[in-house]
Amino acid sequence: MILSEDVNSSDYFANFVTVCFSKYKMMRSPVLLLFMSMFLVMSGANAPAILPVPSEIECSGAAVRRDPGRLKVTVICPDSVRKTIERYSVISEIIGNDCRVSAFHKLREKIAPESYRLTVKENNVDIRVSDYRGFVYALQTLGQLLGSSEGFPCNVTVADGPRCGWRGFMLDSGRQFQTVDGIKKYIRMASMLKMNVFHWHLTEGLGWRPEIEAFPRLTKVGGYVAGGVQQQGSYSKKDIRDVVAYAGAYGIDIMPEIDLPGHSEAALRAYPELGCFMDSVRIPETGFTDRIFCAGKDTTLAALKIILDEICGLFPGKYIHLGGDEAPKGQWEKCPDCQNRIRTNGLKDTHDLQLWLSAQLASHLKTHGRKAVFWGDVVYSPGYPLPDNSVIQWWNYRGHRDLAVKNALAANHEVILSPNYYCYLNFPLEPWRGYGPERTFTMKEAYLSNPADAALASGDRRIIGVTCALWTDYNLTQEMLDSRLFPRIFAISEIMWHKGERKQFDEFRMLTEKTLDYFRSKDFDIDYLQTK
Ligand code: ACM
Ligand code: ZN
Repeated sequence: MILSEDVNSSDYFANFVTVCFSKYKMMRSPVLLLFMSMFLVMSGANAPAILPVPSEIECSGAAVRRDPGRLKVTVICPDSVRKTIERYSVISEIIGNDCRVSAFHKLREKIAPESYRLTVKENNVDIRVSDYRGFVYALQTLGQLLGSSEGFPCNVTVADGPRCGWRGFMLDSGRQFQTVDGIKKYIRMASMLKMNVFHWHLTEGLGWRPEIEAFPRLTKVGGYVAGGVQQQGSYSKKDIRDVVAYAGAYGIDIMPEIDLPGHSEAALRAYPELGCFMDSVRIPETGFTDRIFCAGKDTTLAALKIILDEICGLFPGKYIHLGGDEAPKGQWEKCPDCQNRIRTNGLKDTHDLQLWLSAQLASHLKTHGRKAVFWGDVVYSPGYPLPDNSVIQWWNYRGHRDLAVKNALAANHEVILSPNYYCYLNFPLEPWRGYGPERTFTMKEAYLSNPADAALASGDRRIIGVTCALWTDYNLTQEMLDSRLFPRIFAISEIMWHKGERKQFDEFRMLTEKTLDYFRSKDFDIDYLQTK
């Protein structure tokens, strides 16, 4: 416990109560519990606002403002982490004012992965970590402390670490195109919320975005098939390498998604020979059509493998997403090549054919040492077995409740949780364009009734974590993204990160209000806060 000697008497009780609020102190002493309830309001006012909420925080002393430029930052970490910290300039980007590490020491204690221990006394800051991500998260916490307009108590210790290992944010760059700077902004946001995966949905019926040298028309044609001004564009290999490196500095892995066999109209407009028939492809303004990659032609399978080879060359992360959602099989029912594939491989039907195709591509990714992630559709009914490097991402809670989770676990796959209720942040707060009242939700629902929270609480270690998703259907353009994300993404980041008991919702909501200025100062356009 830290209780500074020089606290003036008016601050004393507030400081004392703030200390009492630290989790383990609270559990130890009934006397402190009594004080706590007496000075609830005071302590609430004094406690630094940090989101997601750290596991343990102790603070004391009068609130002061600190100049980041004068901070003496000491990092206690393994040598390998020191090298990574020295390679990146992320500290001044997060804290500002050319803040630098002034000393490194070797870590001699045990700190869990992605965890940190942060101590601030006057202008001296100690950060203890066992890996680079822990360092980034310590900085993010320090950034929020420094960004508080009232300053923060002069002595603060935070001991913190994540609830689950996979904490993802998905952005749909297929339906709407975002600039490289826009993508970087959301990588920064994900890191501020202590997420570690940026799931980049790169291909859609409305646009194919990543440059593939072997198939240049994918971007030259497929990047420009939609009607909207902000739906035009593609990412060159240089852009992608830039984004991957930028994300690395923020402790974030990028999982690219090449959605197949469905949601591929843009690719088929560019290369009709990859479909079942050489007919014209309609680009769907909303939803999807039955024009999907042919699973029967060896040439299509070979092309998809070449595309994945280039994708693996661009993205070093372990996980590559192969889509698998919403693939209508009308064309496959009629296609002689698809029917031939079904016959020669003894498959049951076209769903089985999708599983066969998925298995071929997952096995191909295995040769690159990668895992293949699929949307839950592939496990709704049994069939051709997926290889053991296949991971299932749960999404369609509205349609199928937890069927995908149950079936994925029964087949012993890892699972990522993204139930559309309440992890799809494109579902608005109020009905909007194609979203009726049945596809809206509030921050309170996301916080209190999230199926992802319950599934995580089951403790099954094959459930690796949670991804919240921002689809860009109905022309959700780049400047509209913040209004969908905030404040509800705070609730989801809390579910992903915070270990142990969570705050009552009203208290949590107050905390989100306290952090708005900080997020605004980082360029997030938060113009309202829902209070439901
Ligand atoms: C999805 O929302 N179609 C994965
Ligand atoms: Zn076919």
